[in-house]
Amino acid sequence: MKTQMRNLSLLLLLLLGCSHLSSVVSWKKDEFRNCNQTPFCKRARNRKPGTCAFVAHNVTLLDGELTAKLLPKENHENPDQDHDQGQSKPLILSLLVYQDGILRLKIDEDPKLDPPKKRFEVPDVILPEFPQKKLWLQKLSKEDDSSVVYLSDGYEAVLRHEPLEVYVREKGGKRRVISLNSHGLFDFEQLKVKKEGEEWEERFRGHTDMRPYGSQSISFDVSFYDADFVYGIPEHASSLALKPTRGPGVEESEPYRLFNLDVFEYIHDSPFGLYGSIPFMISHGKSHGTSGFFWLNSAEMQIDVLGSGWDAESGISLPSSQNRIDTFWMSEAGIVDTFFFVGPGPKDVVSQYTSVTGRPAMPQLFATAYHQCRWNYRDEEDVENVDSKFDEHDIPYDVLWLDIEHTDGKRYFTWDRVLFPHPEEMQRKLAAKGRHMVTIVDPHIKRDESYFLHKEASQKGYYVKDAAGNDFDGWCWPGSSSYLDMVNPEIRSWWAEKFSVENYVGSTPSLLRGLDPQSKRCKAFTLSGFHLFLVAFLYSSVCVDTSSRLIYVVPQLVEVTMPRDALHQGGVEHREVHNAYGYYFHMATSDGLVKRGDGKDRPFVLSRAFFAGSQRYGAVWTGDNTADWDQLRVSVPMILTLGLTGISFSGADVGGFFGNPEPELLVRWYQIGAYYPFFRAHAHHDTKRREPWLFGERNTELIRDAIHMRYMLLPYFYTLFREANTSGVPVARPLWMEFPSDEATFSNDEAFMVGNSLLVQGIYTERVKHTSVYLPGKESWYDLKAGAVYKGGVTHKLEVSEECVPAFQKAGTIIPRKDRFRRSSTQMVNDPYTLVIALNSSQKAEGELYVDDGKSFSFEQGAYIHRRFVFSDGKLTSLNVASNAPGRAQFSSECLIERIILLGHSAGPKTALVEPENKNVEIEMGPLLLKSKRGSGFITIRKPNVPVAGDWTIKIL
Ligand code: NOJ
Repeated sequence: MKTQMRNLSLLLLLLLGCSHLSSVVSWKKDEFRNCNQTPFCKRARNRKPGTCAFVAHNVTLLDGELTAKLLPKENHENPDQDHDQGQSKPLILSLLVYQDGILRLKIDEDPKLDPPKKRFEVPDVILPEFPQKKLWLQKLSKEDDSSVVYLSDGYEAVLRHEPLEVYVREKGGKRRVISLNSHGLFDFEQLKVKKEGEEWEERFRGHTDMRPYGSQSISFDVSFYDADFVYGIPEHASSLALKPTRGPGVEESEPYRLFNLDVFEYIHDSPFGLYGSIPFMISHGKSHGTSGFFWLNSAEMQIDVLGSGWDAESGISLPSSQNRIDTFWMSEAGIVDTFFFVGPGPKDVVSQYTSVTGRPAMPQLFATAYHQCRWNYRDEEDVENVDSKFDEHDIPYDVLWLDIEHTDGKRYFTWDRVLFPHPEEMQRKLAAKGRHMVTIVDPHIKRDESYFLHKEASQKGYYVKDAAGNDFDGWCWPGSSSYLDMVNPEIRSWWAEKFSVENYVGSTPSLLRGLDPQSKRCKAFTLSGFHLFLVAFLYSSVCVDTSSRLIYVVPQLVEVTMPRDALHQGGVEHREVHNAYGYYFHMATSDGLVKRGDGKDRPFVLSRAFFAGSQRYGAVWTGDNTADWDQLRVSVPMILTLGLTGISFSGADVGGFFGNPEPELLVRWYQIGAYYPFFRAHAHHDTKRREPWLFGERNTELIRDAIHMRYMLLPYFYTLFREANTSGVPVARPLWMEFPSDEATFSNDEAFMVGNSLLVQGIYTERVKHTSVYLPGKESWYDLKAGAVYKGGVTHKLEVSEECVPAFQKAGTIIPRKDRFRRSSTQMVNDPYTLVIALNSSQKAEGELYVDDGKSFSFEQGAYIHRRFVFSDGKLTSLNVASNAPGRAQFSSECLIERIILLGHSAGPKTALVEPENKNVEIEMGPLLLKSKRGSGFITIRKPNVPVAGDWTIKIL
């Protein structure tokens, strides 16, 4: 019977995997477990403000931290009484303070009171060096019924004892920043030992969760002050500014859910959780700026944004002079380990958050260029054909991807030797053009005794176990599959070894020879086997017996994931770690690629699942989207939200994964995708082929132009990736990150900034003739293609061209470009630069350029060039901003700046003087874009040929 069911499910899996279901929207909502069907969420939401049962006692400073006991109200008169089973026991609270205005609040069960087990604290997310930033608290001031400690020069942290509350306020003032439990909703369900006859199991659509420790959820309210909007907590296909989920006027009252899931054909406007989770929220307002709150907890979480007036009947009054947004956080398990970030600017908050969870990794240069993917490029001939067509059509690309069909029966790390008999040779051919290949490695491991990976993993006991202690057996592409227990560092390191050149047969070694087209000298190109990596679709055993993909059409079935009572090593229940499982996979795979390259090559690993900290390990994409206009539109807030929560290297499948985009949609998607931090086209295997040259000459030309735009801007993008790597500030930013006091930007998620200089407005409707674009700030903006100037602080109604989406350079900025088109970014390495200077009303501008070897870690030792270009008083100066520390590694480049375009400069000058050489160069009118048909009306300093790495000035005469 079981086998029959499996065969049936496999058939359905294939059928459904291959077909595009159109009428998904109507039933999608019923398919996933909503709050009412999730007991901990339902219980928490039913609680009334003011019912918090705890009071702070024994407040003291210990080891530089504030500690307190949280006593249940019923026994705080007598703290030393015995605590019977079932009764609330005292909890331990600690407040820790770190540099840069970061407050950490932890609450857990008291280990001295013998809880049935230690609750799960998510390991390896907080940077190992972060604890050294702890400030040793010296002084505890008492104030009414509160204890106050120093947080930073401008702020202090307050613990109110009864009613219990923790908040951050401005020093000496009354202005609050963030508070927890101001509405008295804090609750902490403690682990219990089951007594005879008690029924703790929870059933959901045929699946039973044993819940061996009973209910263990935690919930509390968090208030953000002076807030106009809150943002963050990915992943949802939803707006950038989070909408109220409860309160007056909210019709569909579902909280934002954080639960990593493979959601088939997700809809474009929903609070249901997708593939990844980051419990980090940012608030922003016009009067006092930005603050942030992070809960390090990897269990299922549900978060309500409470609409104003939700607490009208609570009788609780908070400072009314400050605008406030209240939120309610509920998690199924874990502990309270929360961080408060004081900002005060949006960039400060992102930087504070990434000082805890890590800055985004610096990608290799090639990874920031264009990627071509499809499920699947069929065989070697197909690969060769696609590759050569890019050249034939003069379209650059850097990476060709192979999806699951390249393997031998979905046994990852192997090849289908019929379709791909010569994988090394195939990769070498790409490498000769400076291109790379990425292959997929999925997390499910085929339970096949002859498969080396399974054999070893099962012998070593490396799989996650089911509640009965057997290897958890799920159902996915390869059939019966098991999952490695990646929470364990030993298993991660074993997995990492599998990526070595010796172990991953058919992947290419890390150094190949290629011809540098410019110098005609033989140069080394690095080509490692870079690996696409997908997680989050963990098929549960219940699905195995009933169906797997069938889940998507029969709503009664359980969600497609591992059961919550599955067991990881050390007695950790899957419910406690669920949202971080993919994170550990990402980490181990990325470590594997570092090891493979002997610690010399930066890894490239793309994951669909993510958690707080994933930014340290690679890129993330928004999963299986659909080829429709709404999904194009929602891709922008999804990417911006990821950036706000640390993950700056992200993108959406260009073209839409499911379905067949009309040519117009495809073109628009390329035009906006060219500005995504991660730029990749991808498609489901049942869709029609859609490589850029398949839609007629005009569309090929439009797509080529979009891709060319990205290649031209690669120096700018790479500089931004470095900025993200050093500060956490994302590559793609909401407008309010650059214009924090401009209210008109706060809920704009149709336009976004790439760095501080470029504004991009998407076109999300077909056959549209006009669009409105709001250009913030006092300075003007220059159209990126036509160079036309537009006033700032105004909404412009613009004619829409089929040639591009509207994009503008802000006056006062300088953008570095490379304008020669080649086959790949690798081949552009020695090309000269163009600087585009957009002058502001004071005839000034500034910009930066960061360059390194594009692949190794030597930039970490200082081997890079970092220049600041300043235009002022009719003179352009190049300044070194790299550190001059003695012993710093060196990186040199002979690249020159071959052209400088001045926007907003009055016409007339004929020459410029280059110093220190003391040579005159010509100024003439030239085009803004080399291939442009729009004429040559832009002041251009021709061939200044100054070294990109040197100090120089160019004075307009
Ligand atoms: C799901 C992934 O999200 C998608 O990108 C991939 O093509 C298919 N699985 C097949 O591997």
